[in-house]
Amino acid sequence: MKITKAIIPAAGLGTRVLPASKAVPKEMLNIVDKPAIQYIVEEAVAAGITDILVITNRGKGVIEDHFDHAFELETKLQGNPSKADILEQVEKCSALANMYYVRQKETKGLAHAISCARSFVGNEPFAIMYGDDVIVAGENEAPAIGQLMDAYEKYGCGVVGVNEVPRKDVPKYCSLDVTPLEDRIMQVHNIIEKPTPDQIMSCYSILGRVVMPPEIFDIIDRTPVDPKGGEVYFTDAMLELAAADKLNAVDFVGTRYDMGNKLGIMKANCEVALRHPEIGEDFKAYIKDLASQL
Ligand code: UTP
Repeated sequence: MKITKAIIPAAGLGTRVLPASKAVPKEMLNIVDKPAIQYIVEEAVAAGITDILVITNRGKGVIEDHFDHAFELETKLQGNPSKADILEQVEKCSALANMYYVRQKETKGLAHAISCARSFVGNEPFAIMYGDDVIVAGENEAPAIGQLMDAYEKYGCGVVGVNEVPRKDVPKYCSLDVTPLEDRIMQVHNIIEKPTPDQIMSCYSILGRVVMPPEIFDIIDRTPVDPKGGEVYFTDAMLELAAADKLNAVDFVGTRYDMGNKLGIMKANCEVALRHPEIGEDFKAYIKDLASQL
């Protein structure tokens, strides 16, 4: 079945980027000239996704505004031929995809946020794109979520997007036990969330992109609350798929930026600015000059 729906959980508190995320959702923090969530929506659209549900909460209404028409602004820009390019960029935001929103009424973790998408998803496989993970495809590269969707369509199993991370960073993410199936695709046997150094099974960690069968909602419902964390962990639900040999991993191609922490935000802005058609050259000269003073 062709995958046409994606959900973007964006209801987290963003505590690691406070106070920037106090009034502005971290998903709306910009990378050069677009908010992070627009890069994610564009990645989905490039992969053939047509319908996107954003899981929001109180104070995140600005996400809806961003993907809506801005009547006054657009009317003003229409009257000024020298702003035609800007008008095109503004109008594009509201024409990217069919956008839907649902509120997670309590911040009870990622698995709970995903379960808020149940009626939107229905009985179809769907993509999950974490609202604070931006993955930029290089020239001639397929969008990361499209690489996972292809693997889902080929094997009919859930898919997690992974990359190898430096060993010292694995305890911040998770570690996967995998065996290869083909180039860049592996079967997942086990996942340990935030492992201690002696629990590391491989340096493959899940980084913000997943494709799931609709059965995941029933699995989340029967997954027990973690006694330490006090919430249902999405990893625990995915482990049920792994135990049934129904979970694969794709080592996706693309550059991933973690917009959930300060260094990740700065790296994203710096790297995207260096490649930006309008400011790239000037920014490179500025960085070179700056580096020579350090
Ligand atoms: P994170 O754990 O990275 O986001 O969740 P967070 O909770 O906002 O981060 P910190 O630790 O407080 O800084 C991964 C994704 O899941 C969403 C987040 O918005 C993020 O995109 N999420 C998390 C929800 O939608 N609901 C939740 O209850 C928790």
